Formats: sequence, C-alpha cells, structure tokens
Amino acid sequence: MICITVSPPFRRYIPGMATLNKQVRARWLQGPSAPCESVPKGAYLPWRIVLLGAPGVGKGTQADLLNQRLHACHLSTGDVFRTAGSRSDCELSPVMKEAVAYMRRGELVPDSTVWDMVRERSECLRCAGGFILDGFPRTLAQAVSLKQLMDTEGLGLTAVVNYELPASEIVARLGGRRTCEKCKAVYHVTERPPKVAECCDRCDGKLFQREDDRPESIKVRLEAYDRSTAPLISFYEKLGLLMRVPATGTPDEICERSVPELEYRRTKQFANLLWAAEENRRDT
Ligand code: AP5
Repeated sequence: MICITVSPPFRRYIPGMATLNKQVRARWLQGPSAPCESVPKGAYLPWRIVLLGAPGVGKGTQADLLNQRLHACHLSTGDVFRTAGSRSDCELSPVMKEAVAYMRRGELVPDSTVWDMVRERSECLRCAGGFILDGFPRTLAQAVSLKQLMDTEGLGLTAVVNYELPASEIVARLGGRRTCEKCKAVYHVTERPPKVAECCDRCDGKLFQREDDRPESIKVRLEAYDRSTAPLISFYEKLGLLMRVPATGTPDEICERSVPELEYRRTKQFANLLWAAEENRRDT
C-alpha cells in the first residue's frame, strides 16, 4: 500500500472562504477594467462547474444557491449581454450592439462574439475563488474553445450539471420570471415571489421582466437550445464530466440533490491531484 503525505501544494478550502466571493462579479459583468474587491488568494482547489439545461430550467436560480453553498462565483454570459443592453447605444461597441439585438430576438449570439467576450474575462476562469458558468458554453464550438483554454492553463472542471425538466414546466417558469435590475437576483411571481412586490429582497432594486421572456422569443430560444446546446450533453458525457439532475421540486430540493455528487466529484478530483503530486515527487 502506498501512503500519501497530505502536504500538497494546494488545499481544498481557503479559511474564511464563506465571507469571500459573494455576488461581486464586477470584473465579469463590466469587463477586466472593473476588478472584484475580494478575490481569494493562495493555493486552493476551486470549484469549476458548468451548468447546462434549456432556457428557464432554473440554471440561474441554482447558480445562485450553489454560490451560497460553495462560494464559487456565478458567471452568466446572459447577464453580461443584459448589462450591456441596459447601457445607452453610444456606450456600446458595434459588436456588442449587435450581440444585444441577437439576445432580444431570443437568438444565440455568434460564437466569435461570445468567445471574444469570455476570453477578455478569462481571469475569472483562473480565479482562485472558482466559478459556476451559467449559459456558457452553449454550442460545440464554444465547448471546444473552453476545453482548449482550460487544458492549456491546466485547469480541470469539477463537473457539468445538466438540469432536466419537461418543456411545459419550462414555459411556465419563464412566463413568471422577474429579475432584479441591480443585483440580477431571480424571482418568480408565484413560485418564488419577493417579500415586497416588484422589489428585490436583497438590494431593494426594481424587478423587471426580461425582453426575451415574451412568447415569440421563448419559442426561438427553445429551438436554439435543441439545435445548438443539447449536443453538449453527449460531449460532456464522453469526457466523464456530466451529472444529470432532475429540475423538478423546489429550488432548494434541486440544490440538495446536486451538492452530494458535486462534493464526491471534487473529492475524487482532489485525490487524483494528490496522486499526481506524489508520483511527481517520487519521479524527481
Ligand atoms: P441566458 O441569460 O443564459 O438565458 P437562458 O439560458 O435562456 O436561461 P435563462 O436565464 O432564461 O433561464 P435559467 O435556466 O437561468 O432559469 P432561471 O433560474 O432564471 O441567455 C440569454 C440570451 O443571451 C440567450 O438567449 C442568447 O441570446 C444570449 N447568450 C447568452 N449566453 C450565450 C452564449 N454562450 N452563446 C450565445 N448566446 C448567448 O429560472 C426561470 C424562472 O423559473 C425564474 O422565474 C425562477 O424563479 C423560476 N424557477 C427556478 N427554479 C424553479 C423551481 N425549482 N420551481 C419553480 N420555479 C423555479
């Protein structure tokens, strides 16, 4: 039997992590010139999670709950485009203006635009606080680009969670969704209502209904999902990263369903890193 000394060049947890990495996301939402205030420092094995699933299945809601549990940052590409969409036209580059127009119609933004935007923020993928990617990757080309970047940087994904729900429930969730214009927290008029109507529980921001939650855009988004995003399920299954999670029940129940397997996968990833470090030490 080989004994492994647990003195790795990294730790599983950063002390005080719970107080770090709240929903700051300044660097992600506004770009690299807006640094986040509290970024964890030191060697640490971060959570690096991708959330998959049809529009409205509850990825943003789960990302928020997982952020509270795991303290990894919630990075949503849709939030970046919506933040851009809330600025005046003259503040936006021609490419970003075009991206916002795609989003409003419910169509996917072209891969090259999305990848340029993510690459510009790749510091967020390297961040010691980890990440929960919501809405990216969304096409095979995006998934391949992400894999190449992560492989080059020696960054491993913990898991890719695919949330599964019948289409009729998805449409009901989208129709009742309300979002905070300031902190982007997500509510539902009947399933997850705010304490005060139209007002965010966390920051008192005003709640709004997304432009792409109109019936005609919902249809376009669901078709785009079937055509472009659903193939990612088998892509990540082949890589051994896919976790299938039924998205029925309350948001807390769904979160409870996913955390034990996420913990298990991370422990396995940590053990593999220890083995590799030990093998390396013995070889040198
Ligand atoms: P994006 O913002 O990513 O939207 P999406 O994928 O369509 O997903 P949604 O945000 O609509 O839904 P969700 O799964 O997060 O559900 P939520 O938690 O809000 O992208 C928007 C657009 O940006 C795209 O259409 C595209 O144009 C563009 N874009 C973004 N990324 C791109 C990329 N990589 N490539 C190309 N284009 C890109 O929940 C929905 C509702 O259900 C809420 O009201 C919530 O309160 C409620 N709810 C959640 N869970 C439950 C539950 N368990 N029970 C009852 N209600 C629930």
